[in-house]
Parts: sequence; structure tokens; C-alpha cells
Amino acid sequence: MSASSSKNDLSVWRTIKTDRFLVGAPHYPEHVDESYWERDAKRMAEAGFNVARLGEFAWHLFEPKLGTFDFDLFDRAIAVLARHGIDTIMCTPTATPPRWLTVAHPEILRVDGNGRTMSHGSRQHADTASPVFREHSKRITKAMAEHYRDNPHVIGWQTDNELNTSMPESFSAATLSEFQLFLADKYGTIDKLNFAWGGDFWATAYDDFGQVVLPIEFGPTFPSPGHVQDYHRFLAFATARFQHDQVEILRATKAEWFIFHNLGGLRDIDFRGQFSTDLDFVGYDIYPMLYDEFQRIGNHAKVQALHLDICRGFSGNYIVPEQQSGFGSQPGFCTLTPEPGEMRRMAMSSVARGADGLLFFRWRPAHFGAEIYWMGLIDHDDVPRHRYDEAKRFATEMTALKDKILGTHVRMDVGIAGSDFDNQEAHKTYSIGLPSPQDDAIQLHQYCYDRGIACGFIHPEDDLSRLKLLYVPHWVMWKDGWTERLEAFARDGGTVVIGARTGTRDENNHVIRETAPGSSLTRLTGVKVKDFGRLAAPGAKGLFDVMSRSGGLVIPPNRPAESHRRVRRFTFGNREIEAAHFYENLTVADDAEVVATWSNRYAEGQPMASLRRVGKGRVLYLGTYLTPELTDALADRTFAEAGIGPLVGDLPEGVEVTMRQNDDRRLLFLQNYLDQRAELSEVPAGINLLDDGKSVSGTLSLEAYGCAIIELR
Ligand code: GAL
Repeated sequence: MSASSSKNDLSVWRTIKTDRFLVGAPHYPEHVDESYWERDAKRMAEAGFNVARLGEFAWHLFEPKLGTFDFDLFDRAIAVLARHGIDTIMCTPTATPPRWLTVAHPEILRVDGNGRTMSHGSRQHADTASPVFREHSKRITKAMAEHYRDNPHVIGWQTDNELNTSMPESFSAATLSEFQLFLADKYGTIDKLNFAWGGDFWATAYDDFGQVVLPIEFGPTFPSPGHVQDYHRFLAFATARFQHDQVEILRATKAEWFIFHNLGGLRDIDFRGQFSTDLDFVGYDIYPMLYDEFQRIGNHAKVQALHLDICRGFSGNYIVPEQQSGFGSQPGFCTLTPEPGEMRRMAMSSVARGADGLLFFRWRPAHFGAEIYWMGLIDHDDVPRHRYDEAKRFATEMTALKDKILGTHVRMDVGIAGSDFDNQEAHKTYSIGLPSPQDDAIQLHQYCYDRGIACGFIHPEDDLSRLKLLYVPHWVMWKDGWTERLEAFARDGGTVVIGARTGTRDENNHVIRETAPGSSLTRLTGVKVKDFGRLAAPGAKGLFDVMSRSGGLVIPPNRPAESHRRVRRFTFGNREIEAAHFYENLTVADDAEVVATWSNRYAEGQPMASLRRVGKGRVLYLGTYLTPELTDALADRTFAEAGIGPLVGDLPEGVEVTMRQNDDRRLLFLQNYLDQRAELSEVPAGINLLDDGKSVSGTLSLEAYGCAIIELR
């Protein structure tokens, strides 16, 4: 099977054209007695699965000794699956190199910022920047590729497993020398590097590239933001290079194979760079009950939607190689348990936001190792229960609907600038306790999610013409070319909203030498920033409630009085709102309108936000960060005029809605994420593809965790 999609066209609108909706499970035949294999394959087939993913942690079995290969166990497992109509996605097993390799070459082990060498005993302990490790990675990839070239049941490959999820950094000797080479290539002369990193600040200048050190946090105080930025650019470069080695071998061996990676923690990977252009499509593992944001947002359906939309922003539709099925744990933590019906709902939510294939993690749980309570579809006692039944229902539904679903993209009326590696990293190099661009964007994402408004993330270099509004959340590292794209979007009738601090640093992480937000954005917005300052987070009593030197939480013993907190307020429309995180005092050009004004303290009466008409559209600038109240006010001011409204009117609490569409069809996805029935009253007319094509118009009742896909008339 081959997957056709243009590899270099990384667009949020891109769809995957596999010959089937890939549905199945990651499976570990090496974890169970062979007497289980036949029954496992039969049950998979009965569930309607068409694929299993194998091998990502089995290097020690594929190559028990240096240069001695043994594919027997997996050949037999693949054959048993194939007899039942299940194809295999094979993985390069480089997330867990075998012990003989780390014993022979301890120099491939990662080293952390405190100089501790990682031990061989869990996973991702090897350094993907290490030339020695790269050679072994190429060797095992080549041996596996050649072995499986003529096996018709191996249809595609996953590279490694969740690169960088456990630990992206390394401070090893190999990383250091590769970093130095990367810098020599990038800068050419040491003077250029010294300028970029600010060598005259704290006497950090180097005489030659061989002196360059790795940026140790607090070593004893902070390294230069330019240094840190380049270190993370290097990690992303080295990760893409590591994957590229494998992709090159796989493609040269058999061009028909599709190749993807399963993204996990999303750290130190530039998804709009070579990492993704090398792949046919990306894979994104979905564990909604595990993400950090769950703590803050408190609703795993919303968190899942957020992560899916972020992921789609990189390169369009994707597959989900691992979707949480039961509760999950490693020795130190554990997640909530999906309730009956919820696993299918979670899977349907993934499809609703761009998944063109989905595998449930995992077929059966392990009885040993560091994930014994990571539940699968079959329980420890070999009994299939409700998770198996739900997977069967989902697989049957997706297989029946594949021609409807594949080839459609996810509609977005509201776009949030996302997927930019440099901006994500630039924030981290100097966060001063402020929310990241993505954290700021969550406000708008949640606003849209709750109201059923089609929203997602998109890079400014992507096709903006299908949006109605684009929000740029404080992207400090701005490129002038992006201003032109935003201007063209506005001229054609789009609404652009630019957040505070956008454009204030250059690609070296230097603060720009012009008045913020820089000449091109000033031309577009009509705004200049006179001065700025930091504010507390919403509800916090003071700045130090939310930040410490290391970004941790510090509660001061005496909470300052309001006058010392210097609370700032502004009026926007007819509301007075408390600002949070950051303020800018603006001057606004004559051809722009002031739409919000600071309303207390010395800045009373000064502009906080502006609007400038550009062609058929408009450009707003906000001199602060989003809060729920400001997001409300902003939506009131802009959405109706921009033609933005909910996909379904009168949306009951607990129902999420999105639209997948192309020129031929529009599919409205509705999922009830609560454990009680939801009644909808304003569903547009169509047929419910999950209910035998029954006509729907106006009312629709969704059971607890119930789902509908309405093909609109
Ligand atoms: C994923 C990983 C899997 C498994 C799963 C549950 O991040 O790819 O191998 O560990 O989490 O922890």
C-alpha cells in the first residue's frame, strides 16, 4: 500500500490518501506466549482491524548480538496476523538500543544538565546526536528494511518511537562536538556567533568554535537567550537528521512503503522542517487524560481537542498510532479511566479533528515491566470486555465510512498562529513567567470549542484564505514576509488580531532596535508601543504568585495590597476589564481607531487596543494578553463582523462539534463528552452516518458519550 500526499506541502488543509482507514492496535507478540498469537489475530480480525504496529522496542530480539540478526519471532507473528487479514506497520526499534550496544559504547548514552549519565534501564537513553549511535541506527534500519522488503504484509513504517518525549536534551561529549560543528556551519566565523549570542555581555565571547559550551541552566546563572535558542535549534536539527538517516534507507529499499513518526511530547522537533517533509504524514499519539493542560483546563475532552488542533497545524491530517483506551500508568503516576462508551467517543473526537487512521494503545497489557497497568483492549486475564467491543464498533464504522471521511479536511473559521519552532523556543529562552504563545492561545481555543466555532492552529506561511480570522499570540520572532501575508489576508476581507509583544525580537533573540512592534507591523497595525510592563496572572495577588527564577510557584508570605500590585484595567466596548500578564501603552496612527483604553493609574485614557481597516478587512492590535473576559470582548467586537458563528446553534453543554469537508461533502461531527444524554435542537438538515443514514433536521438526541456524523444536505 502506498500513501499519496505531497511530502513537501505541509499545510493544515492537507489530507492523507491511504487505501484504507488504518485501524488496529500497537501489539507486542514478544510479551505473550506464542499460544496466544492465533487467538489475538482472530480477535483483531473480528474487531474489524486491518493493521497492527509491531517492533518499536525489540532491537535486542532483531539483533541479539552485534551483526547477528534474527527475525524469526516477528516473521512468525506477522504471518499469523496476515492469515487473518491484518497487515503490519513495522517500527525502527531505536528508542531502545540493546544492552550489548550501550555496554560496548557507553559514550552513546545521554547526559543530563547535572552531568549524570543516563543508565540503560528504561528507554530513550541513547543520544540521537551521537555519530556512533547514528551508525548503529542506520545498520539496524538497513537490516530490517532489507529483510521486510519482500514481505507484502509489511505495508509501512514508523520511525523510532515518540522521539524526544522522555528526554530531548543531552549534555554529552558527542552532543557538544556535534553542536560545535553545527554552529561552525551556521555562522562561519566565531565573530558572527559572538554577535548573535551577545559575547560582550558577561564576557561570554569565544575565541573559536572548539571553546563553545552547552547552555547549562543556572550554571551558575542564566546563559544567553541566543545560546539557548541555538542549542534547541541544534537538538531539532539533530533529531531530524537522525530520522532522515532511517527514512533515506527505507525509501531506497521500497518506495511503496509509507513512513510516519508517532509524535509524543512535541519537544525539540521542528514539525514544519525536514522532520515532517521527510514523512508521508505525521502520527500523533493521543493520551487526553495525561497532558499537563488537563491540570489547568480540567476537562480532558477540551485538552484532547487542543492537542489535536495543535498537531494538525503542522501538516494537516494525521493518523493516531496510539490512542488511550483504558487507564494508564507508569510506576509514579496514573490517569483517569475512560468510562464505558468514552473510548469510542475519544476516538471519534480524533477523527473529527483530522485523524485519517487510528490505533488503540495497546492490544493487550503487559504483565511485566514499567507499564503493567497500562491497559489495552484485552484485559490481563485475556478477556475482551467493553473496550474491545467499543474498538470493534469504531473499526466497523470507520471502515464503512472511509470513502466519506478520507479526503476531507477540518474546517477552520478562526485560525491561531501556531506550529512555529522558533517562536515556541524563543518564549522558553526568556519566559519571565509569562504564558507561552500557546498558553495564551488556549483562551481563544477554549472560547471557540465551548461555542462550537470552527477553530484551529495554522502557520502564517500556510494558505490563510480559508480563514475568517487569524489571531497571532505574542510571536516575538517575527518575519517581515509574514506581515505581507497577513496584509493580503486582510485586504481580501480577513480579520487579523495581533497580540502584545509580537515582533519584538529578531532571529538572534536580540530585542529589535526599532520601536515595537517593528516597522512592518507598525505599518500594518498603525500602532507603536511606548512602554510596557509585567502584570500578575488573573486572580494572582502579585507577580511572585506566578513566577520564580526557575519558573516555579512562589507564594510570598505577605500578600501585597492592591495598590502595590498595580492592577491595570481597561475599557473595551462597554466593559471594564482587569488586564493580566503584560501591558503595553500604545500610540495609534490617525488611520486606525482606538478600540480599548487603559482606565486606571497613570495610563488612564491611553490606547490599549486598535483597529485599522485594510482593504475589505481589518487589523486589530492588543496591548495585553488574553484573559477569558478579554477573549469575550474581542469576540463580541470582531466575530459577527467577520462572519464567524457556531457550526450548530444552541449547543448544549458537553457536546463538541467540528466540520470535515471538501468540495463534494460536508460532515458535521458531534460528540457528547458527558455521561448524560444531550439534546440538540438546531442541527442542520442531513443524514446521520452513524445511525444507518437516518435523516436529521433540528433535533438530535445524543446518549452519554454518544456520537453522530451528519452528512449535510
Ligand atoms: C506512549 C509511548 C508508548 C507507551 C505509552 C503509554 O507515549 O509511545 O510506548 O509508553 O505512551 O505510556
